[in-house]
Amino acid sequence: MVAVADVELPPADSPNLILTPATPEERIEAIRLNSLAWKGPLDVQKYIARENHLLDQKLTRNGGLTCWVLVNRRQPEGRRTILSSCESYRKNAFLAYNGNVEDILTHAVGSVFCRPEFRKKGYASRMIQELSKKLETWQLENERRKRLVFSVLFSDIGKRFYAQYGWVPFQSSHISIPPITNEEHCKGIPDGNIPLARALASEDVNKAMCSDEVINKQRELLRVASEKSPGAKVAVSPDYDHFVWHWAREEFYAEHLLASKMPPAVKGAGVDDRNVYCAWTRVFGETPKDYTLYILRWMYDEPQTPEEEQATVEAMTAVMRRAQLEAHEWKLARVEFWNPTPLMQKAATILDPSAKVVHREKSSIASLKWYGAEQGLGNDVEWCWNEKYSWC
Ligand SMILES: CC(C)(COP(=O)(O)OP(=O)(O)OC[C@H]1O[C@@H](n2cnc3c(N)ncnc32)[C@H](O)[C@@H]1OP(=O)(O)O)[C@@H](O)C(=O)NCCC(=O)NCCS
Repeated sequence: MVAVADVELPPADSPNLILTPATPEERIEAIRLNSLAWKGPLDVQKYIARENHLLDQKLTRNGGLTCWVLVNRRQPEGRRTILSSCESYRKNAFLAYNGNVEDILTHAVGSVFCRPEFRKKGYASRMIQELSKKLETWQLENERRKRLVFSVLFSDIGKRFYAQYGWVPFQSSHISIPPITNEEHCKGIPDGNIPLARALASEDVNKAMCSDEVINKQRELLRVASEKSPGAKVAVSPDYDHFVWHWAREEFYAEHLLASKMPPAVKGAGVDDRNVYCAWTRVFGETPKDYTLYILRWMYDEPQTPEEEQATVEAMTAVMRRAQLEAHEWKLARVEFWNPTPLMQKAATILDPSAKVVHREKSSIASLKWYGAEQGLGNDVEWCWNEKYSWC
């Protein structure tokens, strides 16, 4: 490693700067550096172990995750100074346009970082501009479409920085509801006909939300939507590998932070006869007041009559209550879900009349870069299923 004091820093617009996939050693160095921002309550070694554990999931292994570093091409490999770093995650996605739906790949960007002593020199900006060009063809050699159609990221630094480079802020709202005790859960709620939700283990989530049949049904929904309104519709595929990647993180924390003997087993809830399901994950943040049960993805059939609507809201209420109980059992501060539909809002207010939709301005801003205009796909794009599962 080169001591930072010995490094002559090139200007951010230097032609000698390149963005390149990190060597395995550089990846560890990048993680060590960004631990400053993201290790939370873990020590650096545990944080590196967490990152290696996440890399070893089906979504990310074998090239699913690329760690990128901005370096000076004049420095020899093995002795390069990391000026800035980030990651891209290759994900399955859908594109629906003009009544057709295609399986495509997308790249989600995460872990954008520059060490404090190198900040405000333009390195992250240069990196993002280089990345934007690289991603356009990255890992697409064997795909039918050789160019990227869209890319997503979740900004924790507000809405302006990434928008300069084409990642435009999309809807970024959520609702939070508090945990409930087992006693409260058993007592039920006064108004209504709330059914009992079934707790889902990982395999149940796989069956109920990720089977080929279910994924095909969702693909078809997008296709039909693209017949009804102009403008491309895109979505990150809500497949099982995504859920497993999120669960790998909660399982790591349960073992290494909470020293829990048992990994968290309940991964979601559902009401079978109303076809309402959700998958969730526990996120253990900086301190216990940040611990949150995030609903990664909701699935339900769009109701066609007032009776169906009533039944769907009741089922959602039941699923949310099961989530509230789970949050209590894991000592989490809240249950949260992103971009709630009007039906979810209705269900949440049955449980907590003070529940409000919060529009985020600073953190987890869902942002999407659209490359489709140059590919004859028009200027408009709708991000469907913009939910927590696609976060990275
Ligand atoms: C964000 C970060 C990567 C920027 O790196 P950098 O090399 O200093 O960035 P650049 O010099 O290219 O650009 C600086 C600009 O970034 C933006 N920016 C940086 N931090 C920001 C923050 N916390 N909130 C909003 N904008 C921010 C500002 O526009 C800033 O310009 P300004 O100082 O004139 O307002 C760096 O500050 C960092 O690593 N922060 C900690 C990790 C993090 O939050 N990463 C982003 C995750 S989405």
